[in-house]
Amino acid sequence: MMPGTSIVADVIPAPAAAAGRAGVFVIRASTHISVPSDAQTARIGRYLASLLQRTRGVRLEVVERVSSSEPDHAIVLRLDPHSSGSNPESYEVDVTPQRIVLSAREPRGLFYGTVTLWELCTADGGHSGAINVPAMRISDAPRFAWRGLMLDSARHYQSPDFILELIDWMALHKLNVLHWHLTDDQGWRLEIQKYPRLTAVGAWRVPAGTAAAADIDPSTGRARLYGGLYSQDAVRRIVAHAADRNVTIVPEIEMPGHATAAIVAYPQLGSTDHPPPSVPADWGIYTNLYNVEETTFAFLEDVLDEVMALFPGEYIHVGGDEAVKDQWVASARVQARMRELGVPNDQALQGYFTRRIEKYLNAHGRRLIGWDEILEGGIAAGATVMSWRGTNGAISAASAGHDTVLSPWPTLYFDNRQGGGPAEPPGRGRIVSLEDVYRFDPLPEALASQRQHVLGLQANVWTEHIRTEDRVAYMTFPRAAAVAEIGWSAPERRQWRGFLQRLPAELARYQALGMRYSDEALRPDGAARRLGPFDRHMSQDLKTCTDKLVLSLEDDAPLRGERAIFLIDIMNPCWIFESADLSQARSLQAAVGQVPFNFQIGRDIEAIKLNPPRTPDGELEVRMDGCEGEPIAVLPLASAVSNDAVTVLPAAQIRQAPGRHDLCLRFTQRTLDPMWAIDWVKLLE
Ligand code: ACM
Repeated sequence: MMPGTSIVADVIPAPAAAAGRAGVFVIRASTHISVPSDAQTARIGRYLASLLQRTRGVRLEVVERVSSSEPDHAIVLRLDPHSSGSNPESYEVDVTPQRIVLSAREPRGLFYGTVTLWELCTADGGHSGAINVPAMRISDAPRFAWRGLMLDSARHYQSPDFILELIDWMALHKLNVLHWHLTDDQGWRLEIQKYPRLTAVGAWRVPAGTAAAADIDPSTGRARLYGGLYSQDAVRRIVAHAADRNVTIVPEIEMPGHATAAIVAYPQLGSTDHPPPSVPADWGIYTNLYNVEETTFAFLEDVLDEVMALFPGEYIHVGGDEAVKDQWVASARVQARMRELGVPNDQALQGYFTRRIEKYLNAHGRRLIGWDEILEGGIAAGATVMSWRGTNGAISAASAGHDTVLSPWPTLYFDNRQGGGPAEPPGRGRIVSLEDVYRFDPLPEALASQRQHVLGLQANVWTEHIRTEDRVAYMTFPRAAAVAEIGWSAPERRQWRGFLQRLPAELARYQALGMRYSDEALRPDGAARRLGPFDRHMSQDLKTCTDKLVLSLEDDAPLRGERAIFLIDIMNPCWIFESADLSQARSLQAAVGQVPFNFQIGRDIEAIKLNPPRTPDGELEVRMDGCEGEPIAVLPLASAVSNDAVTVLPAAQIRQAPGRHDLCLRFTQRTLDPMWAIDWVKLLE
């Protein structure tokens, strides 16, 4: 190695600069971690020791330095307030055959230095034995200050232990903001002591579907409730752990919409005379909004008082997205209040709402951040905008002088599937690959002149379709590694091929840590299922006829055990079995299931067309070369109607035809709920 040569260190995110030196430093059990006599640095030293023990099986002692001389054969941690560079997260790692020195101006930089060194120690995928660290010097600092992940704990609940683990995993990617989506229509998760019903009532719902409705809880005689909450004690533990890992938690309390769970708990907060009676289980956009009474603002301020006492970070997220104004428009009382307040229209009323809350947060030393809809009703000067409807929100916000964070749909929405394989967990149907995420440009041309307002970027893990913690991890990693690199590394250090070469070591680290993740990006292209005519074609192997609102939906049954996953366009449930060889086929078999139609999609529901059934229970109809005309096979659904899970329908004769044809598969049904779906189809000889 020529000293000083620029090298690619096996580190994600790629460091700003890495230069090679001659030789290696060998870490043995006798190597110690040398720390000065301050508690914070000692804690960072212990963190490095525990990481190495967990993933490499070496147990290094952390030793306090008593003199100013730094020992050889050691990993030396040094906090140097006078070191160069103005970025508080910057650090240096200097590896020579004699010793390794980690230095930084601030503890958080030093923390990232230990993460980088841990990556150098785990780059060979080995889990035990001596560790050879090539001699090198890394000088590093992030490109953006906000490198975030949003977790939706409202639609599905994750345990406090999982949140703690997620924070650990984020830290190992140098991700530093956990935006925690704690309230929504389908659940209020944060304990608020002044309003206990928010969680006593608002944290619990009956899941959608007939299977859940029939699952009676013997202790109540009613359908079993799904949910969970975070006690203030649990939150304090999580916040303290996050601080240890350089992660700031930005809590989100949604207003004025996505508020159904709170309104169920306290109906006086709502805007109609007929408030919802129970926490709902549909996905989509409910029209329930908070009203604008003084008592409601007092409630929100009380809630924010407790939120601010729990979360010390600068930002409080107040949602603001998808606040459909139907109820405000329809309510005589809200209209009267609008006149009283001198607000000209319902759009401006949301602006009034947000500005008023912002004033309250500012008076308590905090800043407001909201989804990009907060731009629409007239926004307060100090508000920060999280741009999710593409990057236009960020561009408008920044040009109006607001700070902004980019988290645009669809690329940074991790509820989109990352692959199309049969093992892929449910999610939104669109595929957003690791490469798609990696190629996202966090500073497009239109924002370049507003660089100072772009705080950074964030990926959002919405959990409507992500029911379990394992699946949250799978959907998040390794795409979060791509977010980490685009958020941290300078554009000239970023290159997809190089990232892909560093990925196997990253996935080996995940394995050593016991994380769940997707290895989709490393599967050879040919690994897609190659299907013969008489194989089972799973739902994921079929094409949806249209691409209006495609979801990869999990069956609602069985309640315990494996459930089928259906790829379905809920606006047009219709599938294409491409290029089916009908020359030898005599019949067609299909396995079908029913999913609850639990989607609040407003007037769009009128656009869903259903084919009328021939018999009372309906049929699966198969057509050739298009979806019109006479079916070439008809499979009655009678045997499947009373089964909540998947039913294999009796095979039905199919009209033979020479050659290959696209088959169109559609159900007939009178009502939308439940909606039929295909698990698999297969031709029989
Ligand atoms: C959002 O996806 N509604 C922010």
